Amino acid sequence: MTVILELEHVVKRFGGLVATNDMSFEVAKGESVGLIGPNGAGKTTIFSLIMGEHKADSGSIRLHGEELTKLATHKRIRRGVARTYQVPRPFADMDVLANIEVGLMPDSIMAMIFTAPADEEARAIARSVGLNDADLHRDPAELSMGDLRKLELARTLATKPEVMLLDEVFAGLTAGEIEQISGLLNEKRQEGMTYVIVSHDLRSLEPLIDRAIAMTQGTFVCQGDYATVMSDEAVRMAYLGH
Ligand SMILES: Nc1ncnc2c1ncn2[C@@H]1O[C@H](COP(=O)(O)OP(=O)(O)OP(=O)(O)O)[C@@H](O)[C@H]1O
Ligand SMILES: [Mg+2]
Repeated sequence: MTVILELEHVVKRFGGLVATNDMSFEVAKGESVGLIGPNGAGKTTIFSLIMGEHKADSGSIRLHGEELTKLATHKRIRRGVARTYQVPRPFADMDVLANIEVGLMPDSIMAMIFTAPADEEARAIARSVGLNDADLHRDPAELSMGDLRKLELARTLATKPEVMLLDEVFAGLTAGEIEQISGLLNEKRQEGMTYVIVSHDLRSLEPLIDRAIAMTQGTFVCQGDYATVMSDEAVRMAYLGH
């Protein structure tokens, strides 16, 4: 087992609130891990810390054994980690295709000005997530939630990540869209993609993960296979209060 992503004793405070309280976990290359916990547990904060969008107060975050903690977000992306957002965040003043092309650019939006747009590659990624060619020149504001989530995936895939952090990939989707996105994730998984997936839709999550990590109030609760974690008393307390 090769460890690709490691968090060790990570702490993040927002004022008096401890959003991440001494979290430690490892993810192996090719593994798919579900990060679960009730609202406000701190799941999204973990992703923001891994990406460098928030700065950890203490602890270590490593990718391929190399410390990320001091690196800017774009450098972390270059090292192979990328995320989707719980609330999709397309660039509103660009069409769908241009949004994907931003992910293909080596470093920054500035690069787009000096580099020929990689239309064909962006189109191929768009197709792979199930976006229709007809939607590629639309304004993201016109997309359905299902297509916005596909665009999040496309944007993220365009950075050619080794580890994908997926925040609520299924929220607001129809059963058909969930099936389509699950199929895509499984395909990428067969190709060796490493995932950390956050989802309130536990039933859709279950077949996609090798292992679950449960947290509540910023704190690790337990980890193991899905059934073991879901039958854990502390997890049941956190979710159901009894
Ligand atoms: N930028 C911020 N400033 C202040 N508090 C924040 C900030 N971001 C998150 N929090 C707080 O940190 C805690 C963890 O939030 P987080 O969004 O990580 O939880 P979550 O597990 O993703 O929840 P949900 O399931 O609702 O998405 C919450 O109490 C939240 O209000
Ligand atoms: Mg969240």
